[in-house]
Amino acid sequence: MLKAISAVLLVAAASTACVSVQAQTLASPVYTTEQAKRGEAAYMQNCSGCHGDQLDNGEGDGAAPLVGPAFIQGWSAKSLDELFNFTSTNMPINAPGSLAPQTYADLVAFLLSRNGVSPGAQELPFDTVKLKEMSGPR
Ligand code: HEC
Repeated sequence: MLKAISAVLLVAAASTACVSVQAQTLASPVYTTEQAKRGEAAYMQNCSGCHGDQLDNGEGDGAAPLVGPAFIQGWSAKSLDELFNFTSTNMPINAPGSLAPQTYADLVAFLLSRNGVSPGAQELPFDTVKLKEMSGPR
C-alpha cells in the first residue's frame, strides 16, 4: 500500500514538473459561441444543482467554484486535457462519466467562456491528443 502511494506521488511530482515546462508552449484554447451555448444548456441540466446558476455559489456539499481567479489559477498552467479528463471522469459527481464526450467538450467550452477565454471559429474538440496542446483558461 505504502509502495503504491509513493509511486503515485512520484508520478504526480513528475507530471507537475512537466506541466510547468509545457505551460509556456501551449496554444490558447478554442471554442465557438454556439458550442458554449450548448454547454450552457447541458450545464443547467446536469451541473447547476451543485455548482450553482452563476457557477460560483457552490450550493452542493463543497462543489468547487467554476469561475474566477481560483478556478483559473488551478487550471491555467495545465494542458486542457486535464480539465476535460477531470470533468468527464468525475462529473457530475453523482453520475460520473454519464454524458457523451461531445457534451463534455461543450461543457468545457462553456466553462472557458465564463473564465475570460474568447470564442473563435473552431469548436473545442474532445480528442485528448488535441486538448493536450491547448492551455486551460488564462
Ligand atoms: C452532486 C454534486 C455535483 C454535480 C451535479 C456536479 N459537480 Fe462538479 N464538483 C462537485 C464537487 C463536490 C467538486 C469538488 C470535488 C473535487 O474537487 O474532487 C466538484 C468539482 C468540479 C470541478 C473541479 C473544480 C476545480 O477547479 O477543482 C469541475 C471542473 C466540475 N466539478 C465540473 C462539473 C460539471 C461540468 C458538472 C456537470 C456535468 C458537475 N461538475 C456536476 C460536485 C458536483
